[in-house]
Amino acid sequence: MKIFSGTSNEPLAGRIAKLLDMPLGDVEITRFIDNECRVFVREDVSGQEVFVVQSLSEVADQHLVELCLLGSAIKNLGATKVTAVIPWMGYSKQDKAFRKGEAISSQLVAKFIEAAGFDAVISVELHSENVLPFFRIPVIEISAHELLRETLFSSERNFTSENAVVVSPDKGGVSRSERFAEKAGLSTVYLMKHRDTATGEVTVDGIEGAVDGKAVIIFDDIINTGATAVTTSKFVKEKGATSVYFLATHAVLAGHSAETLSQSVIDKVIVTDTIAVPTTKHFATLDVVSVSSLLADAIMQQTK
Ligand code: R5P
Repeated sequence: MKIFSGTSNEPLAGRIAKLLDMPLGDVEITRFIDNECRVFVREDVSGQEVFVVQSLSEVADQHLVELCLLGSAIKNLGATKVTAVIPWMGYSKQDKAFRKGEAISSQLVAKFIEAAGFDAVISVELHSENVLPFFRIPVIEISAHELLRETLFSSERNFTSENAVVVSPDKGGVSRSERFAEKAGLSTVYLMKHRDTATGEVTVDGIEGAVDGKAVIIFDDIINTGATAVTTSKFVKEKGATSVYFLATHAVLAGHSAETLSQSVIDKVIVTDTIAVPTTKHFATLDVVSVSSLLADAIMQQTK
């Protein structure tokens, strides 16, 4: 078995390889002067089971092509099975044509990955249940919910059903938040979030349940622009929440969102490293917890 890394999240790939007690595969990834990508796998993978770690994070287009070139090169060298380990499945937000004339991006991405020769995919929390059926190869989906919950509760030990609640930021997050709340022995409060599809502006139109005098845990899958995190946190604080903890699996942290989050009313933001968070985007209230052991376990399961 061998593990290779693309360039999008080498720290995570390194952590996974370390846990599996093996070096990362030797590959050269360069760009021609016109910015086209070239990969050169410099070791023998013939007859081996190979895993390629690559998040489809910014710049997603480039990282996708890189992943596909890696898969193709490794398959051409005679690997028996090649699995794409894609901690963050970029393009998964566009899982349907929201307006007539739009592409179903995540469906096409699935086709690219299959066309490159990958035999399977391991990913962490796909943004929507619509994404899975786009793949004809097996997809193993890992959850980071337990990891986030444990991380929060290891530092904040005093939450009880009397003094804390879980808040679902929007309709899409209801079942995720309810599962989280149930495991934590807390109740769920529901927000009616609205996003203007033209401007991207996020507003909260209502709340079902009470947060007054309570610590609030908001649980989401992605922090992209940070608009959801900042707006919902401000809303619950104005409704009397004593503190706000915002948990999310994927830290896309687009544009100036890290700066905006650092200046927000959120007391702690906890995310995972499915996407590499550069030091320039770290801020005092941000904790990044690694999914490396979850992915290393998933890889081990595949090789059994
Ligand atoms: C929405 O469907 C998602 O669960 C997230 O709430 C959303 O992607 C977060 O985006 P942003 O950070 O731009 O508000």
